[in-house]
Amino acid sequence: MGFTVTGVKAVEILDSRSRPTLAVTVTLGDGTVARAGVPSGASTGSQEAVELRDGDPKRFGGSGVLGAVGNVNGEIAEALRGRTFTDLDELDHTLIDLDGTDNKSRLGANAVVGVSMAAARGLAIAAGLPLWQTLNPTDVTPRLPVPHFNVVNGGVHAPNDLDFQEFMVAPLGAPTMAEAVRAGAEVYAALRSLLMGKGLATGLGDEGGFAPQIGQPEEVLGLLVQAIESAGYQPGRDGVAIALDPAASEFYRDGAYQVAGETLSSDDMITRYEELVAAFPVWSLEDGLAEGDWDGNVRLTERLADRIQLVGDDNLVTNPAIIAKAIALGADTAALIKVNQIGTVTETLEAMAVCRAAGWAQMVSHRSGETEDTFIADLAVGSGCGQLKSGAPARGERVAKYNRLVEIETAESLPFGLAG
Ligand code: PGA
Ligand code: ZN
Repeated sequence: MGFTVTGVKAVEILDSRSRPTLAVTVTLGDGTVARAGVPSGASTGSQEAVELRDGDPKRFGGSGVLGAVGNVNGEIAEALRGRTFTDLDELDHTLIDLDGTDNKSRLGANAVVGVSMAAARGLAIAAGLPLWQTLNPTDVTPRLPVPHFNVVNGGVHAPNDLDFQEFMVAPLGAPTMAEAVRAGAEVYAALRSLLMGKGLATGLGDEGGFAPQIGQPEEVLGLLVQAIESAGYQPGRDGVAIALDPAASEFYRDGAYQVAGETLSSDDMITRYEELVAAFPVWSLEDGLAEGDWDGNVRLTERLADRIQLVGDDNLVTNPAIIAKAIALGADTAALIKVNQIGTVTETLEAMAVCRAAGWAQMVSHRSGETEDTFIADLAVGSGCGQLKSGAPARGERVAKYNRLVEIETAESLPFGLAG
């Protein structure tokens, strides 16, 4: 079989934060045309594949991506055009070899990942299959993931005093994807009413969640429980549970956590989380400690893994080798999965396979800077991982993913919910 690439083209477009990113179109020998939009993060891990930015202060304050666009239209297009590949794996490894660095810093991970995603979509279109089906490993049951709606934004995603970055509601008890999306939207509406009633702002952060002027995480968690109840749901795993992503690397300074007006050690921080988990229906905690705090993350996992899921994002960066290291250390029990952190679809699937083999959970994720591309919805379904986060149930680039999941559910009868 195989497929032939006849064209590769990139354009500089805007992401949801009004910063430049790439749209990449790949054309195949059978006439298939497939496009992908490249996401971009703000609270990035230091080991992520490198996003190439122009640094020209005269354009977009230095954040232009014409260099990365040029790499796609020049070097990458020349290397791929007219070539026949057996599968996506071979194409992705051609890109990895062409770049030649171990972090895609030469051609840019934003250039490489756009080509990889567009090619993956092209293969699905050419085969007449939904994208999720071509991303489904033979030994994995596809499944609709529990959506994690980020309803309150803080950290570097909002201009408020809230140090924790993400407060998510996860309808673990919903019977279907459509009902889960409804629960998310109803809780979001209830939360808006609560905030308005308290005279708090209902403006939105980068991921579409509210960004009220609140400093203490306990206060936000209290409001979330109230919103879940007033929307008619049961707070907790049988109904709507809460997931946190403090993104602690962002408030880790000089060996301590500067959070909510306090300076805390790793162990103080872990105790704070134990208290939060005892008082509120939190089921999952991502990046509770900083990316370099491996000892702290091992202790956090020892102390909390019997009660909640511990997700690594900034420390693991969707890198199969780093995930394998964390598994061996006993740091975290799950990995956040972002295609642009590692830079190709093939390596992303590899990272997820490493997790599965160790009994680790995975949560597929958007970035805070997004496009309308719904690739991650299909990735979550095909990988059968059972969890996805794509921001609030508001703003086009966020709801595009949730809407795609509802459409997949309508077209196919697939199980919904956590894996395993
Ligand atoms: P980012 O944040 O996309 O801004 O890096 C998302 C996250 O920390 O999960
Ligand atoms: Zn994160």
